[in-house]
Amino acid sequence: MVDEALARSFEGIGADYDRYRPGFPAAAVDLLIPEPVGAVLDLGAGTGKFTELLAGRAARVIAVEPSEPMLAVLRAKLPDVDAHRASAEQIPLDDESVDVVTVAQAFHWFDRIRACAEIARVLAPGGTLELIWNRSDPASAWDREAHRIAHPAVAADDGTTSSAAEELPGFRFVAHEQIQWTERIERTAYLKRWSTVSTFIVADDATRAAMFAAIEEILDTDPETRGQAHYDLPIVTDVFVYRRA
Ligand SMILES: C[S@@+](CC[C@H](N)C(=O)[O-])C[C@H]1O[C@@H](n2cnc3c(N)ncnc32)[C@H](O)[C@@H]1O
Repeated sequence: MVDEALARSFEGIGADYDRYRPGFPAAAVDLLIPEPVGAVLDLGAGTGKFTELLAGRAARVIAVEPSEPMLAVLRAKLPDVDAHRASAEQIPLDDESVDVVTVAQAFHWFDRIRACAEIARVLAPGGTLELIWNRSDPASAWDREAHRIAHPAVAADDGTTSSAAEELPGFRFVAHEQIQWTERIERTAYLKRWSTVSTFIVADDATRAAMFAAIEEILDTDPETRGQAHYDLPIVTDVFVYRRA
């Protein structure tokens, strides 16, 4: 069940999201779209952090995103992308009109049954659905701890799994790949990043301040981050490939 308040939290941000959230490794796109295709749709495209990697991978790159502030950043950054304000549950495209649908860091916000039906409708026969998530690398204890503060519900889990289900209605699961990479990040940018995360956006001021204080405490005490202005942040990018059944 999607938490609507969290899903809609992106309606209030745009520029900060684009500035502070991590991008995605080009290796993910090499894996997903090894040969150029006719049309690719990036669904839940946000400010275009994944969409921008799709240039040159398809004759037509389409973005669908419900948040106007997020879409405004995407349109300014990527004027050649065919951008639509809409949701995954009601995609404003013709039947069988795209070869690939990508969803980066957003599939967990969709109504899974309705979105899968819409994605299957717009995909050409044999087309692929590709789900991408960046997640904390278990190798980084301090980042894992920070994630536990931001997402206490995930703490019950070991925090290393993404939100993908291996079974999606109307699709056949093809592959799961993981790409490990490292981002060099300033302490201030790392803290700012958390302010773009849904649980921080919807928290009241006192709760948000307490969450920031807890993360600062981790950074001030962990041997890898204590006294440092820059950190090496290991990230795992999960890529899940499905084919239209
Ligand atoms: C964490 S952001 C990811 C944005 C972008 N794909 C990226 O990787 O930077 C999640 C995005 O999903 C969008 N979103 C939430 N519910 C959605 C829905 N039902 N259909 C399509 N997009 C949705 C949000 O507006 C937000 O832009």
